[in-house]
Amino acid sequence: MTIADQELSQLGGRSSILARQRADHARLDRLMARARDTVDTGGVAHQVALRAVARLVFTHAFAEEAVLFPAARRVLPEGDPLTLRIETDHQKVDELMTRLDGSSSDDPKHRALMERTFAVLDHDVRTEEDELLPRLQQSMTRRELRLLGWQWELVRRISPTRPHPLVSRRPPGQTLSALPLTVLDRARDLLQRIDEATRCRFSRPLSTADRCLAGASGAVERIPVMQRGERPETGR
Ligand SMILES: [Fe+2]
Ligand SMILES: [Fe+2]
Repeated sequence: MTIADQELSQLGGRSSILARQRADHARLDRLMARARDTVDTGGVAHQVALRAVARLVFTHAFAEEAVLFPAARRVLPEGDPLTLRIETDHQKVDELMTRLDGSSSDDPKHRALMERTFAVLDHDVRTEEDELLPRLQQSMTRRELRLLGWQWELVRRISPTRPHPLVSRRPPGQTLSALPLTVLDRARDLLQRIDEATRCRFSRPLSTADRCLAGASGAVERIPVMQRGERPETGR
């Protein structure tokens, strides 16, 4: 039974992984609606809307791959193929969001690319809410679901915030990449916020610093150990 229509009490309360996932998926829906509403006017409002989608998606998915999916593989007999299907969607999202980030809202293909990206995100949410999470609900106690919820929330708050399609979607590469990529991504986010707060007065030095951090992040992604654990289905 899908978790989409269940009462909060059936999900194990607000702190269970089931309730936390559903709340985050609902927030994603609202952010995607805002990106659709601003696509015609484009400009800063649309950029901000897409950035909010990206920030939610990448931290959410990274924490799933670090905490939720390994737990599902431990307790569900079908955990490996099921999580692999979802990881394949995550990989597609990484690649599509990277292209979307580089495309301008003036480009006639931008809307189609955005809709393709959002369709994969919708598919990811449905697989989780209709298949993965109901199975976990059957196999774990409420206490275990709440503990998993806390672990996922903690990791989500310290996860990378940008796409890293070269890094493995599974441990050990995924786990090893977490610290350097989180530091680099969040430093880039800070530069972006400074740029916005100073109304682009220091854009040149800030964009030079951003390029350096982006280069460092690409170099981290290419370190062979960061690809360890990757399955061919989610490789690049
Ligand atoms: Fe999710
Ligand atoms: Fe997901």
